[in-house]
Amino acid sequence: MSYDEANMIAQRSTPLPPPNAAFGHSLRSLWTLNPAIHFLNHGSYGATPRFVQAAQLRWREELEREPVRFMGDILPDALRVAGARLARFVGASPSRLALVENATAGANAVLRSLRWNAGDRIVLANHAYPAVKNTADFLAERHGLHVVEAQVPWPLTDPAALIDAYTDAIKGGARIAIIDHVFSPLAVVTPLDAIVRLCRERGVQVLVDGAHAPGLLPLSLDMLGDMGVDWYVGNCHKWLCAPKGCGFIVATTEGQRDLHPAVISNYFGEGFEKEFAWTGTADPGARLAITAALEFIEALGVERYRSALREQARKAASVLANAWGVVPGATAEMFAAMVTLPLPVTESGSKEAVARWRLKLLKEHNIEVPIHNIGGRLWVRISAQVYNELSDYEALARVFG
Ligand SMILES: Cc1ncc(COP(=O)(O)O)c(C=O)c1O
Repeated sequence: MSYDEANMIAQRSTPLPPPNAAFGHSLRSLWTLNPAIHFLNHGSYGATPRFVQAAQLRWREELEREPVRFMGDILPDALRVAGARLARFVGASPSRLALVENATAGANAVLRSLRWNAGDRIVLANHAYPAVKNTADFLAERHGLHVVEAQVPWPLTDPAALIDAYTDAIKGGARIAIIDHVFSPLAVVTPLDAIVRLCRERGVQVLVDGAHAPGLLPLSLDMLGDMGVDWYVGNCHKWLCAPKGCGFIVATTEGQRDLHPAVISNYFGEGFEKEFAWTGTADPGARLAITAALEFIEALGVERYRSALREQARKAASVLANAWGVVPGATAEMFAAMVTLPLPVTESGSKEAVARWRLKLLKEHNIEVPIHNIGGRLWVRISAQVYNELSDYEALARVFG
């Protein structure tokens, strides 16, 4: 069965959104989410629509019909097709993009491929994603490197403060700067161009952690590459609604030299595409279903989707801010589909408090939303998605009303 045939079957049983579909709870049936839960955390792992799950399942069935023929004769081309489709979507040349399991795997590939010299400096933000921070710390310990944190203030009232934080951090020179395109706990979108320019002027290589960006922000990754982003890693399972286990790395031609997956496999040294396409036997269904995920987002209307999420996040943040008498952690323009606000409690932040509040909201109020401890205070990060309505956020507002 070809992908197109598989897709047709999937489409028949699990529809795409109708043209100009009204966003809100009426779209919830396109997902398999529990309707009893106010799901305000699309940001962490996304949620995969039925249409995309069906495509993933068809690929899995196709694999299991003739596993050997599939892996050897069908998979390489199928991955190439899926990769090229994604490359087009993110504005990258297909030869610059490789599929990886997730952003963590992509960042590890870059950082663990570099030939480090003792004393090299890695600059990253104090709010960088833990897995990426841990990778930097691990390498620092192994190779005698220095990890320098750009101190991004929080709350953040001006995007210039983010640029200043990186300016300060790279002042003493750096081998590489890691820039979060969208910060995970802060939900803030980084003014990437200015920071990349800064790095380029100082000869600092750049890895962008774009875990949240695909689908959410318009991307022109070839252009970013030309500006000085050597590597860009992204996830497809968040705002592109692909299955879990589907991310990518875009690397410039120079950035591909000496770049290897963190897992060294059969095709070591045989080129960017071949090496990343096979890192050992795995279920490729998630990566192959990226095409269905893109069809899904395109059926919603990419621009319409993006602006609806932004608008809904803004409205939802207003509902909460007004109800609780709080101010979001950054100005409205700095957020996209997620907003981080102070949780209206006096309790100070701790790992235990974060876990307890999340569970309390889920168990007692049927609300799934992440709580973060930022600078010793508790914050809540809301996500907007087309299956949400303002009533979902009003439910959260009422908990502390
Ligand atoms: C900024 C950032 N980087 C990296 C990751 C890691 O993503 P994954 O677990 O899919 O590798 C996340 C996940 O939320 C993130 O927000």
